[in-house]
Amino acid sequence: MLAQVITGQEIVAATQQVGLFELRLDYWQAIDMARVEKLIASTPLPVILTLRPMSEGGRYQGSESTRIAWLKKLITLSPAYIDLEHTVADGVIDELHAINPPVKIIRSYHHFTETPLDLTAALAALHHPAVHTYKLATLANSTLDALRMLVFVQQHDNVVGISMGEYGSCTRILAPVVGGCWTYASENEESAIAPGLLTIAEMVRIYRYSHLNLQTKIFGLIGNPVAQSDGHLFHNAYYQQHASNAVYVKFRLTKPELAEFFQLIKTLPIYGLSVTMPLKESVQPFVHQIDTTAEKVGAVNTLSIKNGKVFATNTDVMGVLQPLEQRTQLKAKSVLVIGAGGAARAVIYALRNAGASITIINRDTNKAALLAEKFDCRSDAKYFDIVINTIPDNQETSAFIQEIVNENVTSRTLAMDIVYKPRETRFIQHAKIRGAEIIYGEEMFLAQALEQAKLFQKN
Ligand code: ATR
Repeated sequence: MLAQVITGQEIVAATQQVGLFELRLDYWQAIDMARVEKLIASTPLPVILTLRPMSEGGRYQGSESTRIAWLKKLITLSPAYIDLEHTVADGVIDELHAINPPVKIIRSYHHFTETPLDLTAALAALHHPAVHTYKLATLANSTLDALRMLVFVQQHDNVVGISMGEYGSCTRILAPVVGGCWTYASENEESAIAPGLLTIAEMVRIYRYSHLNLQTKIFGLIGNPVAQSDGHLFHNAYYQQHASNAVYVKFRLTKPELAEFFQLIKTLPIYGLSVTMPLKESVQPFVHQIDTTAEKVGAVNTLSIKNGKVFATNTDVMGVLQPLEQRTQLKAKSVLVIGAGGAARAVIYALRNAGASITIINRDTNKAALLAEKFDCRSDAKYFDIVINTIPDNQETSAFIQEIVNENVTSRTLAMDIVYKPRETRFIQHAKIRGAEIIYGEEMFLAQALEQAKLFQKN
């Protein structure tokens, strides 16, 4: 269920998918009982009343005794729920419960600097017989923290478990998939009061929140960074088009975290992963079976997970070929590849297989020579039909790229970038000036993502 957080004094559902409102009374200048009563009466949906003190991340500045006095008044207004922090003593909970027993009590626990290792112990410490729902909101300092929260929610009933912060978005999106009671979302970006809180529009339009349930299959992206990736937009739109009960989220992850990551996801319904830098090579020890393409490229960009077994492949190969083959025949074409990193390998393997002759140019010429040897790229071409950039688009690479483009790109060249953000990379800009035919990075992105989505559908 989607809970819309409201800091103002009006209740307007952002979409029909909202199932619950949380009135954050600590954001009000002064508490107006008549107004609160009117707001509760104005909606058929359940309302949570929250008067969060500063010490628990809220805005309420009065003394604790005044706050408790307010809570005792507020509970008489018969909201569906009232949120009481773990700092509220057991005896006070008893008193509040006695005032209006039908009001469901949420006991909430916040940790703003970390996620405790033992969340089950944290939950046990909150136990009180009058409590209806337990809410744990802790800062995730890594994706592993967020995954621990997801596993925790999966294992307990009547729990709202949220990881706060940038790493925690997946716990907010995936709440219905792991059986969390509800998830909070803000009406818009301005009203996003908690770190990592997503907007209702994002939840509904991108992640199709109202379609997610305990049967939903989770897919995702692992790598670092992942913020720039459009994978979540592509894959979630694909699931919508194909009426698949699936969702795609991003997991920012580093190499040293891989072992624990694969351990943690064992109990979660994760059926496939896209893999991006810097994990395309380091993920391989965690794979049960690798296909010939990924093995020969020496890099993995797709993992399918079936019955606990991890299968690896590389759809970048198909992704680079498709846009090129739509425009030209690759056999015997002369191709210049800029870069000799992980991304270049899939490009070189794909083009070698298609019968092109390849020259690799790289700042570190030894790396280029090693790659040329590995993929049997013997070429002394001086003229290139196709020039493909595989190195990052930034200020530092700018001069290097410009020089190569000026020397090798003409109006007869097919110039392709595999970088898709920004769309107009420096490479593309320089190649345009030279009058080349352009293939934007997004074409490769879409081709490899589509191939991946089709593979995921089989899981
Ligand atoms: P990826 O796997 O995304 O290709 P990578 O393996 O780190 O990432 O490779 C980055 C590529 O960009 C390499 O070809 C790198 O050149 P070196 O092999 O000489 O390091 C290239 N690159 C990075 N910074 C560069 C710069 N400032 N100028 C030129 N090339 C650069």
